[in-house]
Amino acid sequence: MGHLYKLIYSSIREPKCTDAEIEKILVSCKKNNPPKDITGVLIHSKNSFIQYLEGDSKEILSLYDEIKTDDRHRNVIMLAYSPIGERIFPSWHMGYKNVDRIEFQTSITAEDEEVFKSMIEGNKLEGDIGISVLKKFFQISK
Ligand SMILES: Cc1cc2nc3c(=O)[nH]c(=O)nc-3n(C[C@H](O)[C@H](O)[C@H](O)COP(=O)(O)O)c2cc1C
Repeated sequence: MGHLYKLIYSSIREPKCTDAEIEKILVSCKKNNPPKDITGVLIHSKNSFIQYLEGDSKEILSLYDEIKTDDRHRNVIMLAYSPIGERIFPSWHMGYKNVDRIEFQTSITAEDEEVFKSMIEGNKLEGDIGISVLKKFFQISK
């Protein structure tokens, strides 16, 4: 095992990427991520994706290179790629949320929404602010 890294990107969901296609993506995640020891979360809304990947630096980079070429999305922008001390989502081979449906059930503040919007727009992340929003979405309190 090399260095533990996180990688975050945002992208625009193509209209051809139906809910059924998202199911297929999740099947790929379930099949391919565990053997590579990659964990993380995938968030989607009507128009966009944000994916947080954590694992061996080389493994997540090569997965990212493959994901980038997937024609179910476009405008893939890397927001962060940096070392981490420990995993945030150690038991999630790819947690998944549609944010259009969770707006009212969590402790998301107006500021969190701003941060999230900024991520979706492909703006680079300052420090760990984006991570704390992702944790809230998945109700990870640590
Ligand atoms: C937004 C998005 C996120 C994806 N995330 C993953 C992922 O975490 N792991 C993965 O194996 N494939 C992921 N994919 C799918 C890959 O691009 C690719 O289709 C897949 O790895 C092909 O593997 P398979 O033929 O073994 O299913 C993602 C695709 C999209 C559009």
